[in-house]
Amino acid sequence: MSRQAIICGNWKMYKTIEESKSFVKSLAPLIEPSQALVYLAVPFTAIKAAADEAQETPIVIGAQNMNDISEGAFTGEIAARMLKDAGAAFVILGHSERRQIFGETDEFIRRKVTKAFQEGLEPIVCIGENLKEREAGHAHDVLQKQLEGSLPTLTASQIQSLVIAYEPVWAIGTGKVATAEIAQTTHQFCREWIKSKYGPEAASAVRILYGGSVKPDNITELMQQPDIDGALVGGASLQPDVFSQIIHY
Ligand code: PGA
Repeated sequence: MSRQAIICGNWKMYKTIEESKSFVKSLAPLIEPSQALVYLAVPFTAIKAAADEAQETPIVIGAQNMNDISEGAFTGEIAARMLKDAGAAFVILGHSERRQIFGETDEFIRRKVTKAFQEGLEPIVCIGENLKEREAGHAHDVLQKQLEGSLPTLTASQIQSLVIAYEPVWAIGTGKVATAEIAQTTHQFCREWIKSKYGPEAASAVRILYGGSVKPDNITELMQQPDIDGALVGGASLQPDVFSQIIHY
């Protein structure tokens, strides 16, 4: 089965509404035709404007986080329904910055994934080991624990729309990209885990993105690996010309 690649920008806490609109306007003519699906995870405040601007383009707009509850007294939180309403089609869940800085647990992330599926938002579920864990030779154990903890029991159709992002924490924003070999071995491990739990069809359907210092000069080699189905791009997704070079890997 051939999997359609996804190149997803993750803007983190960057860009106002006007900046987001002008980015989408500049990016759109640069990406057609594109062999990959182009996703942009923008700040909550810019979702509506970016989604409106992206309407006649292939760009898909999404969010970077959400709560797992439908509504209620949770000051400062945002619900899946609100993201959908604003025009989000997908949501990044369990990014390492959420896990590390804001203390999100596998259990919390699992509830969010369940909610995203219920509300029809495509979840991009992030996992990744830190440098100490990698150096101690525990990377695969850590990833397996995160996969087991962060993913609910999935149906066949949920597997089709699930996206996993492997982002080694030591490679995020550090300029230190995992070698294509490390990335491939790790992606293969994740796919094997899906296979052991859901069978070969599910394993060949699930998309696994790599994230961590992806740039125009390393994307080609990464995308040549058989188990890498795309990229989650932080810093290099903030300028349309740089991001479009990654999209045309
Ligand atoms: P980076 O971030 O590309 O700036 O390393 C990736 C991410 O955190 O998703």
